[in-house]
Amino acid sequence: MRGLRVSTMTPKTSKILSQRIRKMVWGKSIMSIINFGSLNIDDVYTVDHILRPGETLAASSYQIFPGGKGNNQSIALGRAGALVAHVGKVGADGLWLLDLLEKAGVDTSRVRKSDGPTGRAIIQVDSTGQNSILLFAGANKTLTHDELRAALDTCRPGDWILTQNEISGVSYLLAEAKARGLPVAFNPAPMGPEVLDYPLDAVTLLVVNETEAEALAGCSGSPERLLDALAIRYPDMQIVLTLGGDGVVFHSASEGRLRVKGQSVKVVDTTAAGDTFLGYFLAARQRGFDIRKALETANQAAAITVTRPGAASSIPLWDEVRI
Ligand code: RIB
Repeated sequence: MRGLRVSTMTPKTSKILSQRIRKMVWGKSIMSIINFGSLNIDDVYTVDHILRPGETLAASSYQIFPGGKGNNQSIALGRAGALVAHVGKVGADGLWLLDLLEKAGVDTSRVRKSDGPTGRAIIQVDSTGQNSILLFAGANKTLTHDELRAALDTCRPGDWILTQNEISGVSYLLAEAKARGLPVAFNPAPMGPEVLDYPLDAVTLLVVNETEAEALAGCSGSPERLLDALAIRYPDMQIVLTLGGDGVVFHSASEGRLRVKGQSVKVVDTTAAGDTFLGYFLAARQRGFDIRKALETANQAAAITVTRPGAASSIPLWDEVRI
């Protein structure tokens, strides 16, 4: 990563450091990760199987968890000890999400308040740990171009922009980041046809699962075939293709292809596994890890997340990840 400075911070101290102290420890020259991302309240129902059309089913448990792809990724970055700020919007009902971000060491000073409700997700988790997610965007889709621009104005050269596809103005954000010369990590989730019209030449690092890769590559097939197609379409991008329990494959023109195998764990809930992976990958790169070590670290963190229920709550601390 550009602007990288290797830290002297030990994993033990990293989990409890505030952003201010992190800045002092990491030094002024290190880039921050500015995550323009969603904040959701997740209503999670445990069910025997995912509801079929027309069916009524009793859930065996119900819990409210902090969630949202953006929020989860910021929490993962924060728990991994990264220098990270979150940009987003919540309603009055979601202010507790900010407390959790701050507890993870994330700078929330750029999160705006909305008069409307916070984003919501209704999540069913079945007996194998697989999920299905119904989203209501709420405040996440009320972010205006002016608000995005104001947050971009606070970025320093070398800072990384991170975003997903759960807030308004993603296309504008990508174009503006490119115009300002800021590197961008993009996770096009949830994938929709509009993503194909985004200025994807702004993207430095693309993190996709197989479904997202197929939509962007315009074909289906093995991970190798998907990466071949993506590499032709987006030759300058670093691409991370996550494969769930089968691990991850990385591709870039300079590094070629790196594969890291999945881990065998008892899956309880896969929610936020991809978010954990992405947050930990960026945090590990910010610490100066090479790509293989960053992939392995992120893979390990995601494997812990799937053994626990919930989204943001299931994300491990740096100390818990065996590297
Ligand atoms: O990636 C998992 C997340 O997707 C959930 O927390 C939910 O809020 C949705 O945004």
